[in-house]
Amino acid sequence: MSENPSAIIESIRARAGELYTEIVGLRRDIHRHPELSFQEFRTTSLIREYLLKHGVTVEHDFLDTGVVALLKGEKQDGPERGLVALRADIDALPLQEENHHDFCSVEEGIMHACGHDMHTAILLGTAALLSGMREELRGDVLFIFQPAEEKAPGGASPLIEAGLFEQYRPSAIFGLHCFPHIQSGRIALREGSLMAAADELYITVNGEGGHASAPHKAADPVLAAAHIITSLQHLVSRVASPYEPAVLSISSINGGHATNIIPSKVVMTGTLRTMNEELRSLLHRRLKTDIEHTALAMGVEAELTIVNGYPVLVNDHETTRKLREFSADYLGVENVEESEPVMTAEDFSHYLRYCPGSFMQLGTGRKEPQKGDWLHSPYFNPDESSIVTGMGVMSYAAWSWLKARSSGNG
Ligand code: NI
Repeated sequence: MSENPSAIIESIRARAGELYTEIVGLRRDIHRHPELSFQEFRTTSLIREYLLKHGVTVEHDFLDTGVVALLKGEKQDGPERGLVALRADIDALPLQEENHHDFCSVEEGIMHACGHDMHTAILLGTAALLSGMREELRGDVLFIFQPAEEKAPGGASPLIEAGLFEQYRPSAIFGLHCFPHIQSGRIALREGSLMAAADELYITVNGEGGHASAPHKAADPVLAAAHIITSLQHLVSRVASPYEPAVLSISSINGGHATNIIPSKVVMTGTLRTMNEELRSLLHRRLKTDIEHTALAMGVEAELTIVNGYPVLVNDHETTRKLREFSADYLGVENVEESEPVMTAEDFSHYLRYCPGSFMQLGTGRKEPQKGDWLHSPYFNPDESSIVTGMGVMSYAAWSWLKARSSGNG
């Protein structure tokens, strides 16, 4: 195989095409047997077996599920030996599948409705592909099959705490996510903030219950809760800058059980989504003040608990520029779009706090819009032909990154 990028591209395209049927088979197998966060034992065995079969060394069991594996490149003529990391998440969602294809989930109430089966299969295909061209790799590739992206605190954070980045120091990390609103065959990238920090809000309003006919003898938490909900709306419209996206939704409210009783307590929950860590901490402070003071004005007391979710996902500028170049070389510039930021969250953001990298959106949409064109839909059914795109871009990005690093251009 020649060093020439266009020869490498041709060779990766050909190999991705050859692997396609096998990888679709793996994806369907994983789809049929989805597993919830931190319970991905079958999926973990499947990953290990496939990697071993392709000569990729399974390095370390940092956690009970998930796999971290290393592929050693064999070309060593540059000044620096690089390491690039590629990550896939492997868990499914607690959702009943409503599709009718012949590889539907056999697990009651569990479904790969976020495409992590696709991510896992694509990364397995990438490992097989790169393993076949290890003589061309000027450095090593770390494959991270991460458990539990769907459930806080997520798998990335314990993996890092268990020593992932103490043992390995990749110069870049890349990951992808299925994106049904982009057509198959394309990807989308964005420098800087791409996905939101998502924090859970738990609010308890404590008043004093009593007879609903004599509210002056009670301290009504229902009325106070209504004022709190209304008051909180000013945080997004008057505290956050109009140039910074923020979402604040109170999404549940529970209190009382009868028409003639004022309850003593109301409990509310909600979500806060921000794209900027400074705004996030400002809103945390203002939420607390607003809730406590509104309650005080209404003669009751309120407490706020914030459970921090994943941080804002910030793609490194330089790494994303490079990835854009590589992807345009591989797919054609017309197939590399600019991502719109989204207010969903993703624990790939944790890796990006330690290692520069970029998270891309992989188009999995068909020409005609479909019912299942939403992540987390019981009808989610991505176009499998995007697997070839995913394997190709990941493989070419890894090869190119290592080549650029070794020639001092990385
Ligand atoms: Ni997902």
